[in-house]
Amino acid sequence: MNDHADLVARALLEIRASADLGGLDEVRVRWLGKKGELTAALKSLGALPVAERPAAGGRINAAKEEVQAALEARRLELERRQVDAELVAGRIDVTLPGRGEERGALHPVTQARLRIEALFGRAGFDIAVGPEIEDDFYNFGALNIPENHPARALHDTFYFPDGRLLRTHTSPVQIRSMLARGAPLALIAPGRVYRCDHDITHSPMFHQIEGLAVDTNITFGDLKGTLDHAMKALFGSSVKTHFRPSFFPFTEPSAELYVTCFICGGSGKRGADPCRPCKQTGWIEVLGCGMVDPNVFEFVKDNGYDPKKVSGFAFGMGVDRLALLKYGVDDLQYFFQGDVRFLQQFS
Ligand code: PHE
Repeated sequence: MNDHADLVARALLEIRASADLGGLDEVRVRWLGKKGELTAALKSLGALPVAERPAAGGRINAAKEEVQAALEARRLELERRQVDAELVAGRIDVTLPGRGEERGALHPVTQARLRIEALFGRAGFDIAVGPEIEDDFYNFGALNIPENHPARALHDTFYFPDGRLLRTHTSPVQIRSMLARGAPLALIAPGRVYRCDHDITHSPMFHQIEGLAVDTNITFGDLKGTLDHAMKALFGSSVKTHFRPSFFPFTEPSAELYVTCFICGGSGKRGADPCRPCKQTGWIEVLGCGMVDPNVFEFVKDNGYDPKKVSGFAFGMGVDRLALLKYGVDDLQYFFQGDVRFLQQFS
């Protein structure tokens, strides 16, 4: 009996002394494992006289249970301590100041496009899109720019080896839209366009918004009224508009639209200095426009665009240029460099 009390006392000491779950398990194996001391005691029962075995077995089992209970109690305690330690180590201090988060913002060119889309949307213009890779017919031919026409030379076109090209303007969407649906129609077509041209006011990729309205009896007065209203909505009601005769193969008559310079307010001067953006004229060119040339309708005639029955106006504006002028940015390349210090100023 004494033997067993001794064993139990030693086992309990070791159990209490084990500082972690790994150590505790070693103690368990030492006492209760296959070759453990209490297991050995049980095995030695066979050497006792039969009459003594039940009593001795009962005592060993009681000792074993006591050790098992102590192991279990210590295991729970060590587990609880481990969880507490993990909680302390990974503690979240809700009183610490936050790390702050970077807020994104829309690119100034996107902001300008969305404003223009919303404005024409309210006036009943749908939004149309077309592919950036075009073929000669949509980009030139159907727009009354035949081969060898000098206007082609002005476009600095990027060509693919197979003869297709990167569209040089959004005007091909006029043709695609008229082929897709009949008159009447009023739409704007925003998108990227490409020209082989690169300096502080030109980028090889830039953005245009095309406008097209076709119905019976559309007049140049409709064009003027629509664009005058649009410019006032975009730049403020004090802006004045001014149409100057121009030439585009796909419109006749054609015009360039000027608005009073945003920088100098039309005076041509900035303090004592000449105003550079408007070259001292007080006017800034913002877009090209005109009445759809009957030759263009000829290409889509079968879709309800008989040039004798319908008329229309079209315009095309450079979105980057408008954003540049509106914000007084002096180098177009800032718009395409993705420098957050520049872009954050427009958030
Ligand atoms: N497509 C012309 C350009 O890129 C602009 C324009 C569009 C002019 C529609 C008249 C009518 O310069």
